[in-house]
Amino acid sequence: MRVTLSADGPRLNLAPATRPPGQYAVRVRVELAGLCRSDLKEVRGDRHGVGQFGHELVGVIEESTFPDLPPGHRVTLDPNVPVERGTGFATDMWVAGSAIHLAAALPSLPPRVDARRLVFTEPLACAQHCLSAVSRHLGSDLSGRRVGVLGAGIAGVLIAVLARTLNAVVVLGNRSEDRASFVRASGILDAPIRLTESLPIDTLDVAVVATSFVRADILRQALRVIAPGGLVLLYGGTAPGDRLPGLDCDLDATRRSETSVATMWRGKPVRVGGSYGTVPSDFTAAVRALTRQPTLRVERLITREVRLANLPSVLQQQSTRRALGKTLVHT
Ligand SMILES: NC(=O)c1ccc[n+]([C@@H]2O[C@H](COP(=O)([O-])OP(=O)(O)OC[C@H]3O[C@@H](n4cnc5c(N)ncnc54)[C@H](OP(=O)(O)O)[C@@H]3O)[C@@H](O)[C@H]2O)c1
Repeated sequence: MRVTLSADGPRLNLAPATRPPGQYAVRVRVELAGLCRSDLKEVRGDRHGVGQFGHELVGVIEESTFPDLPPGHRVTLDPNVPVERGTGFATDMWVAGSAIHLAAALPSLPPRVDARRLVFTEPLACAQHCLSAVSRHLGSDLSGRRVGVLGAGIAGVLIAVLARTLNAVVVLGNRSEDRASFVRASGILDAPIRLTESLPIDTLDVAVVATSFVRADILRQALRVIAPGGLVLLYGGTAPGDRLPGLDCDLDATRRSETSVATMWRGKPVRVGGSYGTVPSDFTAAVRALTRQPTLRVERLITREVRLANLPSVLQQQSTRRALGKTLVHT
């Protein structure tokens, strides 16, 4: 059983998943999947780039022609590696490709750690990658740096939490009070959580834009709150050709190439940089954090748990309405 995207929207498909072509192939029995903002964008048809529908998951290999990933091995998925695969919103997901790609696409997970915790591996790996990009663009580590994260969705919260573990001085901003209150009440972040518009101007070394899309209004806020010479890190969605009038920067190219440009904003020198995707070491760091840091209480972000059979209607609902926290899908 799996949920696939058709022209009419998400559909429950009862036919068994079939093995795609590829040198090696493994069949993963999905234990648990997570719903990502990008899945909702794919349902709405406003996501740019390669499809990654159903990519947050914890599973166990049941069938394999690849000796390095034998049956019984527990894995997650790195959706940025080019392999042939079905969706992770499924009881079973086939993944096929070369040895090097299969090994990279299915990072190992430890047994006996709660799947409700490990399902955060991929979003945490993305957050880890973002902070590595911030350090690279700044040319220094984050200890003592004033980091603002704009957008208190799952991505923003995980970036803020990881930045705290790197001893950054963090503030998390959100445009709506209900989400800010939800994150405050979860107790997951040891840092102030404020309305974005109330953040003081010219004070931060870094503003990470972690909203659904990098819209003009939030980008202006980020450019407003950084100190002269500060960095705006583009993390939320961008589309080819996106620009902000008055800022000399191709936003989408900067984000996807993970480069940074020095430019000016209303007379203030600023740097704009990007973070996109992950590398294998981000997954290693995320798994280590989830298994060795009990104080990283990601489970507190879970607000809804649904069955696979109900996922099509949940996807339809959440693609048109705001939801707070993480939705998990039990297969
Ligand atoms: N660069 C990468 O490699 C990478 C990796 C993973 C994810 N992402 C990006 O991260 C984004 C956020 O993911 P998520 O899981 O955190 O999503 P989410 O949980 O749905 O949260 C979305 C956040 O964006 C805010 N927001 C939406 N539109 C806004 C606007 N116009 N102005 C200000 N705030 C706005 C929402 O605020 P409200 O509370 O007001 O609704 C909420 O805080 C994704 O859309 C994706 O593009 C990037």
